[in-house]
Amino acid sequence: MAEEGVSADSEVLERDRCPTGIEGLDNILNGGIPRGNTILFTGSCGTGKTTLSLEYLVHGALAGENCLFVSVTEASEKLMKNVIPYDFFDESLIKKGKLVFVDMPIIYERLGMTEMELSMEDVEALVRALGNLVDELSIKRLVIDSVTSVCYRLKTEEKIRNFILKVGKALSDRGCTSLLISEISPSAERYSLYGVEEAIADGIVLMGNLERRGDLLRTLQVVKMRGTNHSRAKYVLDLTPAGILLVPLLKGGSTGGN
Ligand SMILES: Nc1ncnc2c1ncn2[C@@H]1O[C@H](COP(=O)(O)OP(=O)(O)O)[C@@H](O)[C@H]1O
Ligand SMILES: [Mg+2]
Repeated sequence: MAEEGVSADSEVLERDRCPTGIEGLDNILNGGIPRGNTILFTGSCGTGKTTLSLEYLVHGALAGENCLFVSVTEASEKLMKNVIPYDFFDESLIKKGKLVFVDMPIIYERLGMTEMELSMEDVEALVRALGNLVDELSIKRLVIDSVTSVCYRLKTEEKIRNFILKVGKALSDRGCTSLLISEISPSAERYSLYGVEEAIADGIVLMGNLERRGDLLRTLQVVKMRGTNHSRAKYVLDLTPAGILLVPLLKGGSTGGN
């Protein structure tokens, strides 16, 4: 790998990047997400988390990387329809197996996880199953939507911590750059429902809604990203058929800046 001779925690030496393909986000990140990072994309419902993560995978697949979307809450059949309107989407990506959708409930079922609350052994088995899937399909980009729904079945802080740490390591060891989607309430003062996920992730990207002059704008802000310098400014996010557009939220005005 390109990282030979580069210490893993080196912030100074350039880390290999995984360009998200979303131009505005790659500019904020000085080229993309440092490869192997596990990033928490967090926000309340309707802020565009699923849409953004799908776009990230489509761009990866177009660039020749194998991409996996693990859907926890919604049937992936339905989700696939969300990528079809994009100008840049190519249906053959799914047919060729470059873009793969897996439903987490099917993984739970195969592993015999019928109890609502998962045990520590279940956590290990789940991480192993995800690791095996990434190996078998040579996955380079992965999304879990949402990790909050997985945490909901883990219940305790210890198991959540264990899951995020282990899944992050398993994915990073395989050179996989991953987005963990986190659902929070609009008024939440923290970046994740359990408060544990945010402490462990290599990066945090906060997505939100902002009322401005009677309009509800979507916003995006990179709060933390290990391995790169980045802007921490708030951007307005626009969902268009050509993909996500990001423009700096201009300061000034009644609700400008933060
Ligand atoms: N290409 C698009 N253009 C305009 N609106 C879109 C587009 N894609 C999705 N949306 C809308 O954006 C909203 C947010 O989508 P979603 O990504 O599901 O948010 P979240 O996952 O954060 O709950 C939805 O209401 C959806 O209809
Ligand atoms: Mg969603």
